[in-house]
Amino acid sequence: MSLLGRLIYKTRKFYDDDFDWNTYTADSYARRVKNDIESEFVAIAQDGQLSFDAATGGVTIQNGALHPNALLILEMIGQLQPKSVHEVGCGGGDHVANGKTLYPAIRFTGGDRGQTQLDMAVQRHPELADCVGLQDLTMPFSHHWPRAELVYSQAVLMHIHTAVSHFVALANMVNSADRFVLLVENVQCHNFVADINALREGGHFNWPEMNMYLVTGSTGTRGILLSKEKQDFPLLTSDAQLREGAKYSKRRVVRADEDSARAIFGPAKAG
Ligand SMILES: C[S@@+](CC[C@H](N)C(=O)[O-])C[C@H]1O[C@@H](n2cnc3c(N)ncnc32)[C@H](O)[C@@H]1O
Repeated sequence: MSLLGRLIYKTRKFYDDDFDWNTYTADSYARRVKNDIESEFVAIAQDGQLSFDAATGGVTIQNGALHPNALLILEMIGQLQPKSVHEVGCGGGDHVANGKTLYPAIRFTGGDRGQTQLDMAVQRHPELADCVGLQDLTMPFSHHWPRAELVYSQAVLMHIHTAVSHFVALANMVNSADRFVLLVENVQCHNFVADINALREGGHFNWPEMNMYLVTGSTGTRGILLSKEKQDFPLLTSDAQLREGAKYSKRRVVRADEDSARAIFGPAKAG
């Protein structure tokens, strides 16, 4: 290789996640939960504090407010009534714990690639000790991971930008879910709709049928619902539809396009 070629090779782009997940709790997560969540919202609901209204599909909380994203997760669980729920990237475990409190008949589990995040989860919620464990969603699919009827993430895939890792994570979520996948993520950080459709068309999902819906919580948060069976929610057909009304970040959308462009979907047909 020429000298110029070698210099250019050395300055090649390296794509990375938004955080170092090994030091994330100490670097920022513990502080963010305290300053951004616990200062404004109820992070850990007490027995009897939450209720789900089947007629409206809404969740209400006494003495305080839930973060809008947390509310959407609990409302979707109530509306879909899965037998089991798994949160990927469960972090400090508040959503898993609140789900268990509100829906005691449903089996809840959580996985995270960061041991210190899991330590924080068990410290905040000792009752989760047997329900959470290590899981790196960007590794090849593991048959040891918990399966669940509903698998969801909140603020996880939006931070994953290393190589094609977020595609791997999306496929792993679908392939470990028996009925539903719910994504509660910043919709500008990836081209979620286009990426999901391309993965499905490329044969990366083991679902025979996939329906994609736009779901909205009672305080306006939007999420993406994938369902094996047809549901009575608005169909989601494009990222533009998902992003309608969202504050536009050129930097994020450009990065989302670059992330999408790295994918090679397969398989090529033999013969
Ligand atoms: C912004 S935090 C959100 C935590 C939690 N979902 C919440 O709402 O509080 C992102 C979490 O995703 C986890 N994470 C990042 N990459 C992951 C991966 N490849 N597999 C599993 N978890 C991951 C991080 O360790 C971190 O706990």
